[in-house]
Amino acid sequence: MSAPSVEFFARQFERQIAAADYELNPFETWTLPHLTGRVLDLGCGLGNLALAAASAGHEVDAIDACAQAVADLARRAQELALPVHTRQQDIAHWHAEGQWDSLAAIGLLMFFTCDDARRILGEIRSAVRPGGVVAVNVLVEGTTCMQMFDPLEHCLFPPLELRATFSDWTVLLERTDDFPAPDGKVKRFATVIARRPLA
Ligand SMILES: C[S@@+](CC[C@H](N)C(=O)[O-])C[C@H]1O[C@@H](n2cnc3c(N)ncnc32)[C@H](O)[C@@H]1O
Repeated sequence: MSAPSVEFFARQFERQIAAADYELNPFETWTLPHLTGRVLDLGCGLGNLALAAASAGHEVDAIDACAQAVADLARRAQELALPVHTRQQDIAHWHAEGQWDSLAAIGLLMFFTCDDARRILGEIRSAVRPGGVVAVNVLVEGTTCMQMFDPLEHCLFPPLELRATFSDWTVLLERTDDFPAPDGKVKRFATVIARRPLA
């Protein structure tokens, strides 16, 4: 897997691994208390959420295309004897092979074409068990910091699209946040945490 966005994160993750910089980001912090049962961390990166969830008693599956991140997560999970099952995979072609009680996709879907991002979002919906929880976070329109993107393969959803995708679920958290980026640019994130109806 050598997409420019994955290479961008591989360089960032190598620096973080060297510095043992394993902080949860704000979106992971908001997601953690909502997780129930078996968890899938899709686009797990360094897997800080996966490890925190496993520490809290969840069995966790964690998928990412970045070999360095997945290897480092597997190492940390083994050292801590935590139930985190890692897989290196290009999510562009991901199809849910089962269902999870909780699924987190934090900072992932903007790294695909909009067609692929919407297809994966549909897979995410069907991969959550009735009564289960989804946490999705994406960069949206209004973002001006583009340095991590493949020019041809990225997608900025309209700000309300994520909320609309889960309009038939119970929304537990919904917010839009601007974060400053270098050179006066901005990253605008939409976050939705929602529970799938039982019926
Ligand atoms: C912004 S990071 C988010 C990581 C983690 N979820 C977090 O919140 O820290 C984006 C992640 O998406 C992964 N990614 C990008 N494109 C991917 C692809 N095609 N398949 C799988 N993972 C991909 C990157 O390797 C990176 O780990």
